[in-house]
Order: sequence, then structure tokens, then C-alpha cells
Amino acid sequence: MRIYLDHNATTPVRDEVVEAVLRVLRDVWGNPSSAHAEGAAARAEIERARERVAALVAARPGEVVFTGGATESNNLAIFGVARAAGVSGHHLVTSAAEHPSVEAPLAALEAEGFGVTRVPVDADGLLDPDAVAAALTPETSLVSILWANNETGVVQPVARIAERVRARGVPLHVDATQAVGKIAVRLDEVPADLLSASAHKFNGPKGVGFLVVRGERALMPWLRGGSQERGRRGGTHNVPGIAGLGVAAELAHRERDERAARCASLRDALWSGIEAKVPRVRRNGAAAPVLPNTLCVEFRDTAGDVLLEALDGEGVAVSAGAACASGSVHPSRTLLAMGRTPAEARASLRFSVGHGVGEAEIERVLALLPDLVARVRSLGDAR
Ligand SMILES: Cc1ncc(COP(=O)(O)O)c(C=O)c1O
Repeated sequence: MRIYLDHNATTPVRDEVVEAVLRVLRDVWGNPSSAHAEGAAARAEIERARERVAALVAARPGEVVFTGGATESNNLAIFGVARAAGVSGHHLVTSAAEHPSVEAPLAALEAEGFGVTRVPVDADGLLDPDAVAAALTPETSLVSILWANNETGVVQPVARIAERVRARGVPLHVDATQAVGKIAVRLDEVPADLLSASAHKFNGPKGVGFLVVRGERALMPWLRGGSQERGRRGGTHNVPGIAGLGVAAELAHRERDERAARCASLRDALWSGIEAKVPRVRRNGAAAPVLPNTLCVEFRDTAGDVLLEALDGEGVAVSAGAACASGSVHPSRTLLAMGRTPAEARASLRFSVGHGVGEAEIERVLALLPDLVARVRSLGDAR
């Protein structure tokens, strides 16, 4: 039996979600834009999912735009707001530890002549809300901040950032892809203007996600075509995927506290065991608030990719370096931004627990790790 500890990369799809996807795929195949009964049935599925997603993040259903996942949501938010702002909004603010799906659109705008300020994070990966506010200029059209980091799990002080940024009249986009389903993500508590998330990070299907756009914000569409999603995202809806997303959202909403408590206890047991059994380890983001399911550990003098392979060979899936680009051996931008050296960054592994993981799995990993780490260290080349 494999042990899957890579739930920040993607999650197993819940049975309830599979059933919803199959039912809609088979029985509700109408085009939601059609005027007849088949169209109305498909539309009803989409609107039900929209209500469930809205309830999960405490938004209004009309503010939810369905997308093909968080990469698309992030691109839509960043290009959409920057382009709609025109020449008066030629400056954007972000952090130095963002996901590539935020960093790459910002870098593309920078290449076009936009100014981009990347606010540094501290040694625990945390942003200072005052530093974010200090980066704002009269030309800033958007601030884009990761709610919780995919590699370290570090949770940013988004409520305080939202307060500062909105006081200056600048819209805030939060990439909440890793936070949704793991901690409370409520737009009535954190007044962000745009919020991205993705179904496959909370036991839903891949290739479907959403962007919440609050109020009547001007947003240049990214996919132009039909008038779906009130003209904000053209193209026939992925109705089965959206229905699956809706069910995953409802489960995440209902089970959130219980999941968080269960994951935190497994994660804490894993860290206590590693600390007790493996010498020369350090927890990344140790002094910061961290997602309940995530543990990022530096095993000094190891190459994380080699340790990952060794664990994989024993049936355990984890990730090293930039998780969403698994297989890559480039040192993680996030860990470098936290002041780690490239060798320290490469020596880090991320364990992320979730549905299907229990105490027995954690015990098995703890039984394997000391020898595997010693073996990888004895290979000598951590560079
Ligand atoms: C923080 C964060 N943002 C965005 C994404 C991209 O999500 P998607 O796979 O839905 O494109 C991911 C994961 O891949 C992520 O962890």
C-alpha cells in the first residue's frame, strides 16, 4: 500500500465527488447556455455548485467565476485588473514568495513595462503588512498575495494586509489555493477583492477552479468568446467538473474543523517523531502560523530529490523543492526568499497529509526515515 503525503500537490478525489461528476457527465449533458430544458438542467447544476462555492468562502454566488483551475484564476485576476486599470495603474505589488502562477503573469507585465514590487518575507516566510502598505504608490492597480504557501504551509496575515491595502483604495487579490478546505477562508472576515482557488486541492476534480470577484470590479476577460460567467470567462462550462467542485466545496465546508484537527494531530506526530529520531533537522516556517496539514523539513546535508526518490522506492510520496513543479531540482524560490542557501533549500522535503492518511501511515514513515536519511547523507553529495 502506498502512503501519499503530497496533498498540497493534489488530493485524492472523494467518492461523493466522483459520483457527482459521473452523474452529470452521463445524465446532464446539455449546454448550460441553451434555452431549452436540457440547457436549464445543466444550468441548474452550475448554479447549485456556485452556491456551494460561495458558501465555502462566504461570498455571494454572483461573485463566483468558474475557471479551469487556480493558474487560470490567478492569470485572470492579474492580467484582468492590470489591463482594465489602463495607464494609470502601471504598478503591482506582490511578495517574493509567490506561486509561479502569480509570479509568471507579473513577470510578463513587468516585461511590458509595468512596475512590480516584490515585498520580502522574513526567515519564517512571513510578510509584514506595513511593508506591503509601504510598497503602494498612486499607480498601484493591484496587490496579489498568497494566503498560504504551497511549500511551507506558512499562512500570511491576510486580514491585516487586506485592512492596510483597502484603506489605500487598492484592490487585493489573494491566491487561496492552498488555504481553501484547510483553514477558514471567509471573505466576510478577510475583505479581499479577488480570491483564487482550485478544486483538486480539496478533493475535487482537476482542471476546474474559481475566481471570486467582489462587487462590480472592472476585469478584462482572459478567455474571450461567449458571454458565459457574465462575460468574464468565455467558453462552454465544464459542467461535470463544476458539479464535482460544488460537492467538494460542500464537503470541505462541512468537515473543515474536523479535517484540520485530524491533520494537525498527524502532522504534529510526524514532526515530533522526526525531531526525536533524525539528527540535524530544521522545520521551515517554525515560528509562523502554518496550514494544519503541512510540514516542511530541512534534512541538513541531504539532497531532497534523492531522499524523495528513496522514500518513493519505499512506497511513500512526498515532494521536494517547488512542489507544484515536482521533478524539478531547482531550489525553491520560497525557501531562498526566506534566506535559505540553495543547498539548504534543496535539503528540504514537504510532507502534506490529508484524506486517507492515518496514524499507521505516519508510524511507517517514521520507521523508514532515520535509515533513509542516514543512507542519503552517506552518499555525501548534497549539492
Ligand atoms: C498556491 C497555488 N496557487 C496556484 C496553484 C495552481 O493551481 P492549478 O493546479 O489549479 O492550476 C497551485 C498548485 O498548483 C498552488 O499551490
